[in-house]
Amino acid sequence: MNPTQTLAWQQLAMHARALEATHLRELFAADPDRAGHFSSKACGILLDYSKNRITADTLRELLALAEECALGSEIRAMFEGGEINNTEHRAVLHTALRAQGEVQVRVQGEDVIPAIREVRARCAAFSERVRSGEWLGYSGETITDIVNIGIGGSDLGPLMVCEALKPYADGPRLHFVSNVDSLHLTQTLAGLNPARTLFIIASKTFTTVETLTNARSARAWLVKAAGSESAVAKHFVAVSTNATKVAEFGIDTANMFGFWDWVGGRYSLWSAIGLPITLVIGAAGFDALLEGAADMDQHFRTAPFKDNLPVLLGLLGVWYVNFLDCRSQVVAPYNQTLHRLPAFLQQLDMESNGKQVRADGSPVDYATGPVIWGEPGTNGQHAFFQLIHQGTAVIPVDFILALSQPGQLANHRVSQIANCLAQSAALMQGKTADEVRAEMEAKGVATAEIETLLPHRVFPGNRPSNTLLLDDLSPRTLGALLALYEHKVFVQGKIWGLNSFDQWGVELGKQLASGIEQRLSAASGPRYDTSTEALLAYIGKSIS
Ligand code: F6P
Repeated sequence: MNPTQTLAWQQLAMHARALEATHLRELFAADPDRAGHFSSKACGILLDYSKNRITADTLRELLALAEECALGSEIRAMFEGGEINNTEHRAVLHTALRAQGEVQVRVQGEDVIPAIREVRARCAAFSERVRSGEWLGYSGETITDIVNIGIGGSDLGPLMVCEALKPYADGPRLHFVSNVDSLHLTQTLAGLNPARTLFIIASKTFTTVETLTNARSARAWLVKAAGSESAVAKHFVAVSTNATKVAEFGIDTANMFGFWDWVGGRYSLWSAIGLPITLVIGAAGFDALLEGAADMDQHFRTAPFKDNLPVLLGLLGVWYVNFLDCRSQVVAPYNQTLHRLPAFLQQLDMESNGKQVRADGSPVDYATGPVIWGEPGTNGQHAFFQLIHQGTAVIPVDFILALSQPGQLANHRVSQIANCLAQSAALMQGKTADEVRAEMEAKGVATAEIETLLPHRVFPGNRPSNTLLLDDLSPRTLGALLALYEHKVFVQGKIWGLNSFDQWGVELGKQLASGIEQRLSAASGPRYDTSTEALLAYIGKSIS
């Protein structure tokens, strides 16, 4: 379905023009309970979306768009294991990975829940053996360091979660290597003792060149230190869907933790890909993360759209992308341990909805996935927030703040909260010429100087944001937050009519890289455009 053909889309287009001249200050002035009218809470997360350029009419039309796009039945289809990844003929069931209690989820007639729980139990048992010191390396010593080698979804999810939950870490030290630049690996290994280091090779396909290159070098490092290939069995485990390739690499499949093709890479942290999380915070912590995500799944499935956090976030995103022409979106977490959340969300959102054809292959004639970017909030304030306040582009921001976290210093906490709230207020209200003038006059600045500086010191305001306040940054609430964003991406994908679960766009680069690698190592192989050929010739001289 082309969403632009819906009645709601037409209404929203007209409504956007009508609302163009209205400032958020006016909307707040007109409704003293605006924050109450435009906020919703679920699963330990308060979403205040009152600082968006919307009215009750906007919301009504956005909700009507969701209805016209049959969002309800799309949600049901995902949870029930429908083959919604139509280009790869796969169900999309990351939600089954965290399903709680007595449930059945069928893929091609088979209930997948027992297999999910069996792998999770193996991950928990293995983690316990490592954490308790029962699992020994080749020299009989316990494991002190874990190195996860993976990339994309086999890296970003567990890395982001392990960072976010650092205050709960009570297991071995954890390191992540993803970049094929050897310095990522060698600098990580530099301080480690091979006899006490365990590698997790995480790759859904087990064919990803970067991961396998790093894994081979890691194995060589270990074997050199141990003096024997037999050490590999005690120091390498794999997380993958591809047992054949794992065995070919030389990892005993008894030390492999599987998952399934209906788990997308960027949705895989809930599967055995989350093994580093279990190793570092323990199985109970990982279970709590899953429970939080399951809470959000339940909310997404059952809450009316008007109160439904993922639906609201998703629809607001559509409003900005398609009706206010905002093509990028900032994520600003105010908790330092969420520092990799923007990177995680980049993959989640941009790999899912960076598409220009609909699920049926027909081209879109409207914008789809925005550019997602961000940094921890206070750092961003001293770097790129200038552009969000006074630049020419309107960039909606998601402010994210967990109100409590183990180990916080009370005096820092006040400043952390103040900064987060101050930024969203400043973006919303801005500062008028009259306000700047009055402020400068009160400071005794000369009139001529005031007039010179005035244009520079005016803030337009009317810059939209959401504020997400988390009760805490416990595993459970984090799980809910991540599921919230997963479902937000789903909502947008469905409104745009996309298949959010394939990623053909990354294939061409991979193909070309393999040909170029061939050229660099053998001087023969495919030929490329003149720019690439000139670069190859230039580089050839320096590496030959
Ligand atoms: O290149 C993108 C991608 O295909 C992602 O979707 C995926 O998460 C990543 O590569 C890693 O893939 P794998 O887990 O198969 O190594």
